[in-house]
Amino acid sequence: MAENYYQEELLICGGKQLVGEIELSASKNAALPLLAAVLLTDSPLAIENLPELRDVHSMCEVLRHYGVAISPAGSTFTFAADKLLCSCPPAPLMRSFRAGSLLLGPLLARCGYAELPLPGGCAIGRRPLDLHFSALQALGAQIEVAEESIVARADGLSGAQIRLGYPSVGATENVLLAAVLARGETVLENAAREPEVVFLAECLRAMGAEIEGAGESRIRICGVERLDGGTFRLPPDRIEAGTWACAAAACGGELLLRDYAAAENAELWRILQQMGAEVRQQPRGLTIAARRRLQAAEVTTGPYPAFPTDLQAPLMAAAATAVGLSRIRETVFENRYHHAAQLQRLGAVIGVEEELAVVVGMPLKGAVLQAQDLRGAAALLIGALAAQGESRLGGLMHLRRGYEQPEQKLVRLGADIRRILPIKDENNYRNRQILML
Ligand code: UD1
Repeated sequence: MAENYYQEELLICGGKQLVGEIELSASKNAALPLLAAVLLTDSPLAIENLPELRDVHSMCEVLRHYGVAISPAGSTFTFAADKLLCSCPPAPLMRSFRAGSLLLGPLLARCGYAELPLPGGCAIGRRPLDLHFSALQALGAQIEVAEESIVARADGLSGAQIRLGYPSVGATENVLLAAVLARGETVLENAAREPEVVFLAECLRAMGAEIEGAGESRIRICGVERLDGGTFRLPPDRIEAGTWACAAAACGGELLLRDYAAAENAELWRILQQMGAEVRQQPRGLTIAARRRLQAAEVTTGPYPAFPTDLQAPLMAAAATAVGLSRIRETVFENRYHHAAQLQRLGAVIGVEEELAVVVGMPLKGAVLQAQDLRGAAALLIGALAAQGESRLGGLMHLRRGYEQPEQKLVRLGADIRRILPIKDENNYRNRQILML
């Protein structure tokens, strides 16, 4: 993967309809907890379709620090965690993504000890780990948090009754990843119901775990002595599906999300239809068609099955092109509107007050844009694609955390996007190189 994220930009000539088919990548948010599950077994665990994403690379790098051997063969990666090292991954690596916190549960369950620098991730709110810690403490862990790192110990975990104060996805996954090897039964109440939680539970069950109720608010886990490995295939990325659907709705055109079923993003499809897009399930996948300018929307994010917070920014970009006044309420993260000011540069009128954003859509015009977080980057890309004229988008390291080859996929749909990379030749009168895709 290119390491020019800090200088790399996209030059986008917007105003073109998106027409064609897209093959979705495998889900990032399903991949990361499954990678954490690698630590639970001394047998090989293979993932057939690991996506080429920065967060996935970071997680693999962290696993290597714990002594996991990783063998690639084509798009299949096999992980062997038969000999684990008592290690502490470097802080800059852990700060580059959030899901490192998912290693706490498996390390405690398998080794009884975990030392981790505090994980980072998108700057979209405080993102504390208190729910993870209190759930793991209920299972018998002792956790010390210093300024920059976490040290957790357990002299054998034991099942417990746990009620999460909020249905946190990561805390639910951490409990699953710890309780599968704990002594006795764990009952988790107010669990997250996201499809990625269900996928993790299915993988753990295939490895020999006893879990009932994943996908519901109450999950029951009966600890087992040991888990096997297995070979797994990740589901398509539902957030990527929703992102390209918002792009097609904003730009007009017709998009087929190949082999994709509508079931899991029901709230998004309902809202896009209300905005005037057509959403149809076909035998070959899901089509999203937008034949006229969108109408305004009312959206409130929330835990699954409510509208996903990860699609709030892409939907706001679509709302920025719509006729009328949209209201968006972000209830999951308290600071997830960085993209609003940037979308205003394209001509939309957006007011933000606490969790409410009010968006007055406009015909957008190209601008210079700087992404500050992953899904915000996707929103700016959509805004630039929908705007008339030329835009430049920087901050691509955020986009690359969660989207695999986004510009190549969009160019195949008719978008006009070029990459601008710094060049080494200092005698050249231009210090940038524009690459055709
Ligand atoms: C996961 C997803 C992320 C998505 C989010 C919500 C992955 C790798 N990431 O993140 O893309 O945006 O779910 O759908 O799957 N909270 C606490 N204390 C905790 C844990 C969470 O207060 O201990 C709060 C968070 O600050 C946030 C809310 O709970 O306000 C939801 O966070 P959570 O569901 O845990 O998100 P992540 O698992 O980090």
